[in-house]
Amino acid sequence: LENGVARTPPMGWNSWNSFGCNINETLIRQTADAIVASGMRDAGYQYVVVDDCWFNPNRDSAGNLQGDPGRFPSGMRALGDYLHGKGLKFGLYQVPVDRTCAQYFNSYPGATGSQGHEAQDARQFAAWGVDFLKYDWCSPNGTIDQQVATFAKMRDALAATGRPIVYSINPNSIHAKTGPQRDWGDVANMWRTTEDITNAWDTGQTNGYPMGVQNIINVTVPLAGYARPGAFNDPDMMEVGRGGMTDTEMRSHFAMWAVLASPLIAGNDVRSMTPATQSILTNRNLIAINLDILGRQAAQVSFDGTRRVLAKPLANGDVAVALFNQGSSTTTISTTAAAVGKSGSSFTLLDAWTNATSTTSGTIAASVPAHGTAVYRVSGGGTTTPPPTTSGALVSAASG
Ligand code: DGJ
Repeated sequence: LENGVARTPPMGWNSWNSFGCNINETLIRQTADAIVASGMRDAGYQYVVVDDCWFNPNRDSAGNLQGDPGRFPSGMRALGDYLHGKGLKFGLYQVPVDRTCAQYFNSYPGATGSQGHEAQDARQFAAWGVDFLKYDWCSPNGTIDQQVATFAKMRDALAATGRPIVYSINPNSIHAKTGPQRDWGDVANMWRTTEDITNAWDTGQTNGYPMGVQNIINVTVPLAGYARPGAFNDPDMMEVGRGGMTDTEMRSHFAMWAVLASPLIAGNDVRSMTPATQSILTNRNLIAINLDILGRQAAQVSFDGTRRVLAKPLANGDVAVALFNQGSSTTTISTTAAAVGKSGSSFTLLDAWTNATSTTSGTIAASVPAHGTAVYRVSGGGTTTPPPTTSGALVSAASG
């Protein structure tokens, strides 16, 4: 979306994965403090997104949305001011249609959707200092055309406020699989590609609830052609640091989100994260690859059902290469500089995890543990011709 923001994938934190409906202003402020103290802010994490359950179930007498007075007694504007004072940005959740997911499923009362109130609500968000809107289609009803038209109404209402606001949509909540069916870059800055992530490597789902990390990767890899500055596939908030996966799997999760040009939205409790989690989330090499200004999502170079090779071209001519082992035992994964689009006969490889550098005349290979991902930043050589990207058509072929 050409609205001036999200020229690179947005980075931040969202309350939902760890806290669901159990949110309040103290939690959000403590989280903001921890994002600063842990070095996450300085590593690039910016948007603090307050997900479902922040609102009063009733609009006021003028039809305005209001924060829940019990959870956010200081008000939403004050929360925005607090975040801005910390050098962070303010994100908020809302739905178009009728009810939020908590209102459908978690007996959170009310029906506060923005449909028919788009201009008023967008002005309210801008007045509160909102910098990021997550807009979640939480209804089983509606065709993809109705989704496009409805999401576009809020896009236009946000634009009319004049405030730069990242527009993040989810066409997939309890709404089967419309996320990967089109290039949503005309509608939003980022769009969910699948149903909700859960804290697991593999749930066996192709695009149903809940999705494991590997299941989401399978759906999102073929959508590479959609990603560009201002418009990114969103494979969901991260589960790094939430248990449920091995360290190898959590590193893979982060590495794959990085090369897929995915928004890096942490979902863990950053107030109590381990040093291991912190070091994964703040890996500078991977963040630099993710935030590269070309805004390209890694293209698939090869995949034999187990060994997946992806290549993300970077603005300075380097290429980030991911060697991802989807099998259940250690294996050697190998590609070449030529296969990832580099000409020449001498290259330097920077290992994104260890910082070690090595040289090669062309072979790029590593022994990769089960569910692991090696990432190399390949520099040197001559010109770079990025491998072609696909879009959409491979969804079913790459699933499962
Ligand atoms: C469904 C979304 O996919 C989740 O990320 C979260 O926003 C919940 N809705 C909140 O109800």
